[in-house]
Amino acid sequence: MNWFKKLLPQRPASQTAHQDDRDPKQSNAYDMIGGDNTLKAIAHSFYQRMQQGDDTRELLAVHRAPLAQSEQKLYEFLSGWLGGPQLFQQKYGHPALRARHMPFAIDEQLRDQWLICMRYALEQHITNPEHRQVIYRAIATLADHMRNQ
Ligand code: HEM
Repeated sequence: MNWFKKLLPQRPASQTAHQDDRDPKQSNAYDMIGGDNTLKAIAHSFYQRMQQGDDTRELLAVHRAPLAQSEQKLYEFLSGWLGGPQLFQQKYGHPALRARHMPFAIDEQLRDQWLICMRYALEQHITNPEHRQVIYRAIATLADHMRNQ
């Protein structure tokens, strides 16, 4: 998946020479942030944060399934979305994420609470601020797309 690479600012050739020498299959967001282990850690921190603060109370309240199950699904989805193995799709079919969220009344408040958790999780596990910002922006757009209220 190249959307991540395209969104990163262009650098002078002298600075990109090393990157361009790499196997193009490696040049995706999934690999750049550390692959499977990083995504597992992000999904875990996301749900830890949801349970920690009073500022995400309403978001926690709309979760019905065991959080460990939701955490696993978020990890599997992010894996494919960032250009790694399509774990979610292999198990459950096409993500159709907006349709899957229709049973939940998602307004600006819930979206913002979801993003509080995601921002926290990305801060914990993506050390490169540029990579973190590009991913945060893309996922904030996706989160806004989940709004149905
Ligand atoms: C914008 C605010 C969002 C809210 C309020 C929200 C809320 C929820 C809830 C309540 C569930 C069901 C969990 C359960 O059954 O306990 C869920 C499932 C899920 N969410 Fe979200 N979500 C949001 C955005 C997102 C985004 C942006 C992504 C992707 C990056 C995402 C990925 C998922 C996945 C993969 C599932 C599992 C779907 C399934 O089981 O079919 N969610 N979400």
